[in-house]
Amino acid sequence: MVICLAMSDAIRLIRPDDWHLHLRDGEVLWRTVPDAARCFARALVMPNLEPPVATTALARSYRERILEVAHGLDFEPLMTLYLSEQTPVSEIALACESGLIQAVKWYPAGITTGAAAGVRRTESIYPVLEAMQEEGMILSVHAESPLPEVDAFDREQHFIEQELSCVLRDFPSLRIVVEHISTACAVDFVRTGPPTLAATITAHHLLHNRNALLGGDLRAHYFCRPLLKREEDRCALVAAATGTDRKFFLGTYSAPHRRGDKESACGCAGCYTAPAALELYAIVFEQAGVLDRLEDFASRRGADFYGLPQNTKYMELRRQRWQLPATLDMAGEELVPLAAGEVLAWRAEPLV
Ligand code: NCD
Repeated sequence: MVICLAMSDAIRLIRPDDWHLHLRDGEVLWRTVPDAARCFARALVMPNLEPPVATTALARSYRERILEVAHGLDFEPLMTLYLSEQTPVSEIALACESGLIQAVKWYPAGITTGAAAGVRRTESIYPVLEAMQEEGMILSVHAESPLPEVDAFDREQHFIEQELSCVLRDFPSLRIVVEHISTACAVDFVRTGPPTLAATITAHHLLHNRNALLGGDLRAHYFCRPLLKREEDRCALVAAATGTDRKFFLGTYSAPHRRGDKESACGCAGCYTAPAALELYAIVFEQAGVLDRLEDFASRRGADFYGLPQNTKYMELRRQRWQLPATLDMAGEELVPLAAGEVLAWRAEPLV
């Protein structure tokens, strides 16, 4: 709902959920959990820790560590399991019975941070996918091919055509979320696919094309996987996010790395968007002239796909200029958020 204030706009929206978030572990949680909880009532927490969160027991203790930090904040972590070729079929029943696990995450081996123990051969996970289909557990996919002969900009399309299409064909009732889609090809794949298929979209893939990373100087803080793509791809993502198709919903993919690990000869992939995530999405929706659809994208569609109730509390987004800090403290180290030092036009506040 859009309401007009004197001289400025404000939008009231149901508190949103983040359907793809990297919180990390240990001291770093004191940075990442409050940043996420500022706007999001719930977040789907990715399992690419060291060692990976590969069992329900590990997910349970990770959740407890997050909840210790979230004490007093209105925030619920929803957990994922890390899928590997060693995942026993029996783990799926345990995960479902726990009531804590919302999805199982498929990382192609070696594709990104913490993906070394991921999946090499898609056939090897078929028995687990069978069990997930039967139990109604959602498959969350980092859809990029790790094959060295596949160009870094073509990895998403290649994986969709060579791997994901087969899984979709072979598991017609398995619910699948293609995470952080970055191409027009992925938008088409999801849009034309069955209702069991959905996708998350990040603020950075909506706001930027690859020129932000490579078009001038090399800008390490725009480096994430999948890479930012061409302008045509960005426009297709914007059309999907701001359109009415309920298969596309919010997943920030916010992923912190220490400044030194990004500004390095061998820099880590990941953009830290949590401190201003909702405000960054608001820019996109306002530019598209459909700010009134932000609530559907951010607060309704994801919960509906995951079969969870929508949140009952509200947020307000006010037109108010504020400056994002140039750096943040993360367990005593510097962290550079996306849009560091920039002045943003919207500011989100909880409504009590
Ligand atoms: C993620 C991370 O840093 O954990 N990287 C990223 O580019 N955001 C890993 C991932 O790809 O999920």
